[in-house]
Amino acid sequence: MKKDHLTRCQVETPHDVVQLVWSVISKQRPEQVFASVLDLGAGDGRFSLITDAYRHYVGIERDETKVSQAKLPAGARLIVADAFEWEGDDYELCIGNPPYIRHHGLDSKWRDMALKSIIADGGPALKKTANAFVIFLAQALMRTKDDGLVAQVVPYEWVTRPSAIELRKFIESKGWSVDVYRFDSDIFPTVLTTASITIIDKKSVSGAWRFGTISRTGTVKFTNHASGTRSKVISYADGSADCKAIRGLSPGGQEIFVLTEEERLFYSLKRNKDVRPCVTSLRSVDQNLSNLDSKTFEQIFVRSGARCWLIRSDLDDHSPELSRYLSGVQADAWSRYSTCTTRKLWWRYRPHPAPALLVASGFTFKSPKVLLNDVGAVAVGSVYGVLLDENHDAVRMMANGLRDYDFQRRLVHHSNGLKKIEVRQLNAVLADLLPR
Ligand SMILES: C[S@@+](CC[C@H](N)C(=O)[O-])C[C@H]1O[C@@H](n2cnc3c(N)ncnc32)[C@H](O)[C@@H]1O
Repeated sequence: MKKDHLTRCQVETPHDVVQLVWSVISKQRPEQVFASVLDLGAGDGRFSLITDAYRHYVGIERDETKVSQAKLPAGARLIVADAFEWEGDDYELCIGNPPYIRHHGLDSKWRDMALKSIIADGGPALKKTANAFVIFLAQALMRTKDDGLVAQVVPYEWVTRPSAIELRKFIESKGWSVDVYRFDSDIFPTVLTTASITIIDKKSVSGAWRFGTISRTGTVKFTNHASGTRSKVISYADGSADCKAIRGLSPGGQEIFVLTEEERLFYSLKRNKDVRPCVTSLRSVDQNLSNLDSKTFEQIFVRSGARCWLIRSDLDDHSPELSRYLSGVQADAWSRYSTCTTRKLWWRYRPHPAPALLVASGFTFKSPKVLLNDVGAVAVGSVYGVLLDENHDAVRMMANGLRDYDFQRRLVHHSNGLKKIEVRQLNAVLADLLPR
């Protein structure tokens, strides 16, 4: 695990939430006093403070400073170690709040070791893109008894994210029951994800998955689907040859590859020769705008100083001005981006076509912003493109269909108010909207 990510993942669970987790556990297993409890990524061991619920607690924590500051009750101990070095199993309960670290932040050697160790213990073959908390959740299942219980505070997103599909399938194959309670308020204000209390009961063979919301005071409301509404979460699909959503281009460092109008003029780069229009975010676009033509592009992006000119370093031949610009980019600037360092020529990105539609991946209203791309801008970064082999009227109809589609009801919300659609979910919606 990279050091700065380790520090950033050290978000402590508020004490009332610790208590709430124990009270959800006691509803799942009334009267049970757990003989042995394991906590992976235990921090200061705060889950051990509810002493009447267990006899022995062991917390594994990598950071010595957390352990040295801890004040533990009798029956509890903390061990400074990596959670994946700990071989003890047969725990009745694995409780805790594991680290949230996206796969880019994981040390690849550590991740490969952890994924292998889960497989060696008979667990699922997780994707390399799995978040640390998904890896920890799998480890919790490996370290508990056949009829044990896993109770973890983890982001709600694991119930739908493709990077956790192997874990969900593994749990389904075992028939264990799963209850996922999404918090209806921000319990970790600094973390941009919705937290849940996830309970996996290995004693049960019902295979039932229940979804609900939980308030900080413990009021639970069950919902029909993981979306939290009566509608099913949008599925995932690949695009077709005629209609396909694609991720925004990642050329490797927008401050190098995408210039503002001022920078373009400074380097004497010519429009449509050295640079082409692109869009890296639709945040500043009015929700009601339907068409991005050259006039609106000029107003919204060029004159406002947004990064909106993608350099044509994907081409074979560069003008003397573009060559000068590229040779002026210092190695310590581009070498920070693995996309650049893994290319033969650091600047030679693979181009994307200008899509028919531009779609924002994040949104706060009912649906994301959708623009007809009359200016021929390339979608970059968090903006998706829709490639559509159709005439202008059909493209306009598809844009209207997307704007009218109720995405909000069919997505898992990531943090308060913010929704995000995955590119493969957009493909599923496009397939639905295509005339048959
Ligand atoms: C989200 S914090 C939660 C801490 C504590 N359980 C709580 O609820 O307040 C996750 C903890 O996992 C620890 N951690 C991260 N990677 C670890 C690893 N590989 N092995 C053990 N602990 C780890 C971090 O240092 C951090 O204290």
